[in-house]
Amino acid sequence: MSLSYSLSAHPSPTSEQEREGILANPGFGKQFTDHMAVATWTKGEGWHDGKVVPRGPFQLDPAAAVLHYAQEVFEGLKAFRHEDGSVWSFRPEQNARRLQRSASRLAMPELPEEDFLGSIKALVAADEAWVPAYGTGETSLYLRPFMFASEAFLGVRPAHEMTYCVIASPAGAYFPGGMKPVSLWISTDFARAGEGGTGSAKCGGNYASSLAGQLEGAAHGCDQAVFLDSSTHTYIEELGGMNLFLVYRDGRIVTPELTGTILEGVTRASILQIAKEMGLQPEERRIPIQEWKDGAASGELAEVFACGTAAVVTPVGTLKWDGGEVTVGDQSVAGGVGENTADIRRRLLDIQYGRAEDTNGWMTRLV
Ligand code: COI
Repeated sequence: MSLSYSLSAHPSPTSEQEREGILANPGFGKQFTDHMAVATWTKGEGWHDGKVVPRGPFQLDPAAAVLHYAQEVFEGLKAFRHEDGSVWSFRPEQNARRLQRSASRLAMPELPEEDFLGSIKALVAADEAWVPAYGTGETSLYLRPFMFASEAFLGVRPAHEMTYCVIASPAGAYFPGGMKPVSLWISTDFARAGEGGTGSAKCGGNYASSLAGQLEGAAHGCDQAVFLDSSTHTYIEELGGMNLFLVYRDGRIVTPELTGTILEGVTRASILQIAKEMGLQPEERRIPIQEWKDGAASGELAEVFACGTAAVVTPVGTLKWDGGEVTVGDQSVAGGVGENTADIRRRLLDIQYGRAEDTNGWMTRLV
């Protein structure tokens, strides 16, 4: 039987005035709505006790397994307000399935797809007033479903109790600078993931392992780090929080193939489809980092961009490494944002905000 997510409404929700103040300039990931959806799994009972409750801290035993062994997975998706006031999300069933794959890799129970969708619908219905109005720029309600091992037990084995939760956060642009090219540092000292590891799972540990590379990049004046494969340090993988695409002058648009060490981005998969519809030639394959350097130097490589749910499509300008750097694209034209990068981004946002026909059936109505 599926979970019902009954609502216990917040006794003193945020005032309309305060909420409108927050929605006028939400930033990313720092403001939160009044409620959260939760459910519990135990080895004996399976999934139960789905509910939407006032958002607040968890009471967690200091021996909770997640705090020691990082048994945790999460998702990221957005709710968009359309012009007629309705609220939609983009391919949420893909997030539901990826959460199942991530959970399975971390030896956690799978949450049925209908219970994932039910949690999102119930939370957005309770906090609908937090979905930014249509036409307020690139704003949405970012949804963060996550699941963690809440059993108090210090033995190393899959926990017998899990907590599932969804929180919601009104969001503007992920990068405070908006749509301008970011610079990347090639991380050679650190890898994000290794063969047979958890690279394709969306688990907190992967993000933790990307932070030292990110700090190294920042120390070299870069916005983000790009990680290479851990065995040969030759092939491009991803940024840690975003997938990458290279666009050639001849119309090829190339992204690293899914080798098990790269996150299977929903935005990545959607862009491969959109690129085909635009008449570009999408390719998924291993990409040597040298190809990027050579393509930038010869001018054959016209555009590079990163993509993800949070940051949508973000142009990449400069690539730096120990002893050199190259810049892709003409930074004096259109703020350094390539033509295809801008077009793909616009097409994606137009579908998400209901301004373009949803020919692939990607949108799901929430409210
Ligand atoms: C997303 O794009 O939703 C992500 O999960 C990336 C990051 C914010 C963790």
